[in-house]
Amino acid sequence: MGKILVTGGLGFIGSHTVVELQNEGFEVVIIDDLSNSSIDVLNGITAITGKTPVFEKLDLKDKPKVQSFFKKHQDIEGIIHFAASKAVGESVQNPLMYYENNINTLVYVLQELTGLPKANFIFSSSCTVYGQADVMPITENAPVKPAESPYGNTKQIGEEIIQDTCKVAPSMKAISLRYFNPIGAHPSAKIGELPLGVPQNLVPFITQTAAGLRDCLSVFGDDYPTPDGTCIRDYIHVVDLAKAHVVALQRLLNNEHKANYETFNVGTGVGSSVLEVIQSFERVSGVSLNYKMAPRREGDVTKAYADTTKANSELGWQAKSTLDDSVQSAWLWEKEIRNL
Ligand code: WQD
Repeated sequence: MGKILVTGGLGFIGSHTVVELQNEGFEVVIIDDLSNSSIDVLNGITAITGKTPVFEKLDLKDKPKVQSFFKKHQDIEGIIHFAASKAVGESVQNPLMYYENNINTLVYVLQELTGLPKANFIFSSSCTVYGQADVMPITENAPVKPAESPYGNTKQIGEEIIQDTCKVAPSMKAISLRYFNPIGAHPSAKIGELPLGVPQNLVPFITQTAAGLRDCLSVFGDDYPTPDGTCIRDYIHVVDLAKAHVVALQRLLNNEHKANYETFNVGTGVGSSVLEVIQSFERVSGVSLNYKMAPRREGDVTKAYADTTKANSELGWQAKSTLDDSVQSAWLWEKEIRNL
């Protein structure tokens, strides 16, 4: 099988995708600047698959370095591009850092990719491009709405840059995967989510609270127009999400794509409220969680869950894990890294 570059390959979703690529027999090269990940993740990947991917610590903002990397790897057959900053709140405070780190890097990678004989590209996008969609579940035809944050805007702009490039670069084919809410960890508990500092996302905050690192989980709003008043999201196991990247890449490598640029929503198709996630955690862990109701968080949408029909039928892919499976894997990982 061919050589695949995974940028951001030591990150949460990137590392799980590297494992699934190796399981399928691909040769993997990872680029990561280690700004939001650890070199230890490489050992975790090796412990799972028995194969150590080639790793290059490289800041993709450094264009000359990117160019010299690709000179050494002209045999790359595809790129899965995860490398980006992804904290919504941070992007509001520091927009230029987000535009530089998420957009410049994408342009430099695409400039090199389009010079290769095989230019297959999988882009890490997000359901955030839909904002608060009007209709649930959300299909790929739902309108892209004005971004609620610079982070979300970088995903929208990124998709447009890729689409424009596919129109003119003869060898290029691309797929944007619009993730819903990735959670959980590899069942081996050798890789998982490693949020730096105070977790912004729900599930790592839950597991860190249960592990005693945080005192109490704040539920951001219980007055939303939902059955229990808390926001609804589509929580997908990170291994299911990783597998979606492999089938999307194979679609391009095998020329099964229907257009040079395609988008797919990647979720479970099931919406779960914040309180339902808490109940799931208590059910699978047997731990009573300390939480309290708190004011709404700026920028949160009320509901977002995927219509997965297109990914199911076109990619032949379906999420397998339930919310309980995913939350349990997150808890096993937390206990592993805290030696609980
Ligand atoms: C989920 C729900 C919160 C923390 C974000 C990005 C998205 C993607 C996934 C990168 C919301 C509530 C959370 C807490 C809470 N990131 N919550 N207390 O905001 O849906 O999506 O992460 O690709 O692009 O936007 O995920 O986990 O932050 O929040 O009540 O301490 O949990 O209000 O309703 P979100 P989240």
